[in-house]
Amino acid sequence: MTTFQNQKTPNIQILAISGSLRASSSNARLLQAAALLAPKEVKINLYQNLGELPHFNPGLDDFNISAVLDFRNQLKNSHAVIISSPEYAHGVPGTLKNALDWIVGSGELVEKPIALFNTSARSTFAQASLKETISVMLGRIVEEASITLPFIDKNLDANEIAANPEIARLLKGAIDALLRSIDSAS
Ligand SMILES: Cc1cc2nc3c(=O)[nH]c(=O)nc-3n(C[C@H](O)[C@H](O)[C@H](O)COP(=O)(O)O)c2cc1C
Repeated sequence: MTTFQNQKTPNIQILAISGSLRASSSNARLLQAAALLAPKEVKINLYQNLGELPHFNPGLDDFNISAVLDFRNQLKNSHAVIISSPEYAHGVPGTLKNALDWIVGSGELVEKPIALFNTSARSTFAQASLKETISVMLGRIVEEASITLPFIDKNLDANEIAANPEIARLLKGAIDALLRSIDSAS
């Protein structure tokens, strides 16, 4: 797990999951930018092991697979979750859906505040499908924290994305909305 943080003693933990395994993923860079813009008491941790999870098999659910246990623990230890995912062939990337399938039975998303970020206005199918899957898992999608971002230039790193005033405004607004939803739940 990589931590992108701008503070010393954070006490709110947010797990950020990129649905893309691409090394220079725009979704991952966007989540890193969000971490840079988060208030000092908030730590946004980027989940690193999406591609390490085995294919979901309900028959192996009780087998204490370490990558699965680690994923579940990271979720358990987080107050909220942000998912930023590309769309592939009008659907949710298989690796992300696979990760969600591993936590249907164990229930780490139940009542968890969740923000969905979207880096493309035309990617509507994956967002709708993610919403449906998370809702049936009883995750609490925070609409005010779920945003569609303007085009993310592939040449920009996380610092440069965070320095874009329009993107920073949207990201800060989404983080604030997510934090309010954590407050209202506690
Ligand atoms: C195989 C493939 C299929 C794709 N299918 C869609 C699609 O159905 N709808 C869409 O809006 N974008 C589609 N895209 C574009 C990706 O969603 C887009 O490039 C995304 O920004 C990649 O995210 P990343 O930079 O985090 O890897 C597809 C890309 C690939 C490689």
